[in-house]
Amino acid sequence: MRIAILTSGGDAPGMNAAIRSLTKSGIARGHTMLGIRRGYEGLLEQDVVTLALEDVDGISRRGGTMLGSARCPHFATEAGQNEACAAVKAMKLDALVVIGGNGSLTGAYELGKRLPELRVMGLPASIDNDVGHSGLSIGVDTAVNTIVDACDRISDTAGSHRRAFIVEVMGRQCGYLAMRAGIAAEADAILYAERHVDEAVLTDRLALLLEQSFSGARQKRHVLIVKAEGVAVPTATLRARLQAVSDEAGLKVNVRETVLGHVVRGGSPSSTDRVIAQRLALAALLGLEDGATGQMAAWHAPGNAGTATRDSAVRLVPLADVMHETACMLDGTSQVTRARLALIEQVEGILAL
Ligand code: ADP
Ligand code: F6P
Repeated sequence: MRIAILTSGGDAPGMNAAIRSLTKSGIARGHTMLGIRRGYEGLLEQDVVTLALEDVDGISRRGGTMLGSARCPHFATEAGQNEACAAVKAMKLDALVVIGGNGSLTGAYELGKRLPELRVMGLPASIDNDVGHSGLSIGVDTAVNTIVDACDRISDTAGSHRRAFIVEVMGRQCGYLAMRAGIAAEADAILYAERHVDEAVLTDRLALLLEQSFSGARQKRHVLIVKAEGVAVPTATLRARLQAVSDEAGLKVNVRETVLGHVVRGGSPSSTDRVIAQRLALAALLGLEDGATGQMAAWHAPGNAGTATRDSAVRLVPLADVMHETACMLDGTSQVTRARLALIEQVEGILAL
């Protein structure tokens, strides 16, 4: 088969490991492996290159994506979809593997619906970990480690100056990164959007945390607040409010902020992300050979959604089901989201808001 690979949406550490695994296994099994540059934008422009073994040597350790990525709103339009169908036919593609987050996988689903003769497979790759039926998406483990390292560094300096820090992390509307990294970094408070806590309540609860931490018997040396970027109140606003509270209470505590931003998305992929990427890629390739299409290869799919593969950790889940569950995760009705919230609120010593 002529199998094309594209990476789309926010890049994620581990994407290159997936590209390498697909390419090496594909060539070994007699397929022509093609790389489409810059996501759906490159697909529309037929910006495609044949991938050889030497093109993927040593790329697993590199962050980002060797093919480049893009956000391409035009592809999501009817005209864009029709142009994409024509481009696929012009490139004589038999199969397409899309590596990306929930938006990219939606695009793969839509394209597959329009082109039944094209076999389509998705690999979840997004640091947000907001893809339905995906226990862990490619890039999440590395992003968590990056945040924990940054929080550890912040805690060192905050403790030297008796300061409180608000560290804002990526994740779009999903609080997974803030929750997991906050627990690992001994955060005193973790803020996430899923609970939709009122700003006034949020400020009051954090103000009480500062007073309890820095005055009286507790006398903490620092306070760490990890805030998901999806929480509505701007980090600068929250910092100013907490500084005012500290001043009024005479705590003599500086409240500072650090927005990690895209630092969270870079860096060399962890071994976990490399292995997840490689195993998802192989399962996707073997699935394509078995005639599967319109599926996503999922790592530890919650509730064992989809069908088993030769790899006990990987299941193939219909993209239609992935779209539905993703929507539930975003509107809070997903059992996975509810379980995450229930767990974080049980952790002793963390103010979860
Ligand atoms: P991510 O894949 O990381 O979530 P985006 O949400 O930006 O990133 O989606 C990446 C690309 O996927 C978009 O730029 C667009 O080309 C395509 N896409 C997103 N949503 C849709 C949709 N509903 N239909 C078709 N294509 C879509
Ligand atoms: O979806 C991944 C992500 O990193 C989000 O966490 C973040 O909000 C967004 O992408 C940033 O997008 P961009 O890199 O286009 O600014």
